Order: sequence, then C-alpha cells, then structure tokens
Amino acid sequence: MVRAKQWVLKNTPDFGAPFNFDNDDPNATFELKSFDISPDDLKKGEILVETYLLSNDPAQKFWIATVDRNYSKGTQLGENIPARGIGKILASKNDNYSVGDYVTGRLCWTTAIIIGDPIAADVRKICPEEGDELWWYLSVYGSTALTAYFIFYKYLGLSETEKHYGKQFLISGAAGAVGTICVQLAVNVFKASKVIAIAGGSEKINYLESLGKVVVGVDYKDERFEQNLIKAAAENSVDYFVDNVGGSILDIGVKTLKIQGTIIACGSISGYNHPEELVFKNYVSVITKRLTLKGLLVTDCRENFPEAMKKLKKLVKDKSIDAKHSATLVDAEDDKFIYVPTIWSGLFQGINRGKLITVVKGMDQSRFAKGE
Ligand SMILES: NC(=O)c1ccc[n+]([C@@H]2O[C@H](COP(=O)([O-])OP(=O)(O)OC[C@H]3O[C@@H](n4cnc5c(N)ncnc54)[C@H](OP(=O)(O)O)[C@@H]3O)[C@@H](O)[C@H]2O)c1
Repeated sequence: MVRAKQWVLKNTPDFGAPFNFDNDDPNATFELKSFDISPDDLKKGEILVETYLLSNDPAQKFWIATVDRNYSKGTQLGENIPARGIGKILASKNDNYSVGDYVTGRLCWTTAIIIGDPIAADVRKICPEEGDELWWYLSVYGSTALTAYFIFYKYLGLSETEKHYGKQFLISGAAGAVGTICVQLAVNVFKASKVIAIAGGSEKINYLESLGKVVVGVDYKDERFEQNLIKAAAENSVDYFVDNVGGSILDIGVKTLKIQGTIIACGSISGYNHPEELVFKNYVSVITKRLTLKGLLVTDCRENFPEAMKKLKKLVKDKSIDAKHSATLVDAEDDKFIYVPTIWSGLFQGINRGKLITVVKGMDQSRFAKGE
C-alpha cells in the first residue's frame, strides 16, 4: 500500500486574480488530499509513479486557470493540479514501463499517482548517465532548456557558422530557467558580441555577468532601468530580443532593437498575475522598424526533442552549459509537501536562479542546492 498526497483544485480561479493560497479559507484555490493506493488496483495499461521532483513553470497558471483554450482547457474542480515532474515507477501494468524506471511526465502536484494513459500524460523514460544528477533532467535537460535550444536553432534559425557569430542579444527573465540557458548559448555557442541580460536584483546581475565577459546585466528593479538599458545596449543595436517577461520590459526593450531586428515572444510572466500588463504599447515599432515578432511553444518541437537532447548533452559535457548551478532546489519532503503551491508561486517573486525545482523525495541526494 502506498500513502499518496495529492493537491486538487478546490475552487475555480479567474485567470486575472491571484490564486488563494490560504488552505484554511473555504475559498482556497487548492486542497490537499491524502489516501492509500494499492498497486493491486492497477488496471491494464496503468502505471503507479512515485514523485521525486516537480518542475515549477510559470505556464502552470494557464494550465490551472485558462486564458486561451487553444493552449489549455484549464483544470476542473477536483482534478489534480498539473505539473511536470520526475518519478520512479512503483508498479506497472503497461508493457512499456517497468518497476524502477525513472520517468518524466505530467505527474501533477502529487507524492504518488496512477497514470492511466502514459502517452497522454507525456510520460517518457529517462536514463541518467553516470555523473548526472536526476534534477538535471528538469533543468539542463528539461523542457525549459529545450525551449532555449529551439529559440536559437529553430526560431532564430542560427547555426554555428561565422555569419551567425558576433550578434547582439537582449534577454529578459535572464536569470531564470529559460533565460540562463539562452545567455549561455549566446555567449558560449554563438559567440555573441554582447548579451544584455535583464533580471531583478544585484545578486542575479552579478551571477549573469559571471557567465561571460560580453554579458552586461541590467536590473529591472532599479528606478533608472530604462536609462541603464539604453546605456548598456544603445538604441537600434540589438539583433535578437528573447523576451520572457512582456509588459513594460518588452516596450522598453524594443527601443534597443535594430531596424529589421527580431523579437522572440517566449513568455510574458509580468502579466500572468497582472493581466493589465499583457499589452504591447510599443507595437508601432514593429511597423516602423520592420521587426519580426515570433511566438513559440516548445511543445510544437516535440518531434525534434531527441536531437535537441543529444546536443544539450554535448553542450553540458563540453561546459558550454553549466549543469551544476542550473537550478534552485526547494525541499518539500514529507510534512513540507504542504508548501508545494507556495514554492511554485515563488516564481513570481523571483526566488529562483535557473530552474526552480521542488524536491518531493530524495533531498539528501540533491546536493547542489541554491548558492553551492
Ligand atoms: N513558449 C514556450 O514554449 C515556453 C516554455 C517555457 C517557458 N516559457 C515562458 O518563459 C518565461 C520564463 O519561464 P521559466 O520557466 O524560465 O521561468 P523562470 O524564469 O525560471 O522564473 C520566472 C522568473 O521571472 C522573473 N519575474 C517574475 N515576475 C516578473 C516580473 N513581473 N517582471 C520581470 N521578471 C519577473 C523572476 O526573476 P527576477 O528575479 O529576475 O524577477 C523569476 O525568477 C515565462 O514567461 C514562461 O511562461 C515559455
């Protein structure tokens, strides 16, 4: 018998309003349930997975409270709260998965879960190589690293050739999971002439500048942000703007772009709890500067994940991407599982550097916590 804890949706939230994290309030967004699962109850095709690690993604806001049904239907009352994670198979009635396999997939905010349709839940086996940490499969080998990979190799269409070297990049949300990989790809793979990296606070700026001599960090929380950004980049100097934040950072960032520059619209986190920020006031510059604005969803690139993963492994091995410092791990083992929702909400306060990972089991083995 396995004792499982699972967070489910208690009250349907509005996308525009913040979630209610007060578990004692009848209007709380989430509810923690606890029950026993018997491996004997598994039906044909099902697997029982014990959760080790949970990925924290800003987009979970959309998976829970939908804003666009083209992207996600949202979560229904009583359903598990969607989250990607890594776990180990405890029991299997599916020929494609064996007890002891490590898998990544939609494990939700759970300590253990029966998955009826592993393909629908995007469950894929992972085979850590010697020396790998399990959590790297959510950071340098996770979906946010894949997102960064496809931004450069597919959406910007860059290849490792002379003509693509020496460009100037502007990257917002630069100290986060997607951002830190983007900065390292720009510096170490595409030999950028300059990378202007926007993040909040001096600690993150110092970290970003430590990634390469060509990196200039700009703190968006500084009241002189706009002047500092223009000074760092110069008007009309940036070739590629990878935007993870949207809102006023997008508006100001556009001023630095060259005529015919490119904006990659990867995310718009500044508006996920403040929909009034989901506007693009400088849109006219798209016309006057003849800019290219490209949106993307990493899930569209699924077919090419294996080749991307191969390349990411090579980049980690040759130290173009630093795996050791690629995540902030937060302990939610045992009684601390109650903190899973508030750990996730820490993304919006910037508690992470690199990927924010919640450790549900195995904290002892997750040695490289924040700052090490
Ligand atoms: N299109 C896709 O397929 C795809 C895939 C993955 C992620 N994304 C998007 O990419 C973005 C980054 O995702 P991630 O997983 O890498 O998250 P993350 O950057 O690891 O975490 C979010 C970071 O955003 C910053 N932030 C939070 N609120 C902000 C605000 N109001 N203004 C400016 N910065 C703010 C915080 O850093 P500071 O301390 O610097 O504020 C925080 O650490 C998100 O918008 C996400 O939705 C898109």
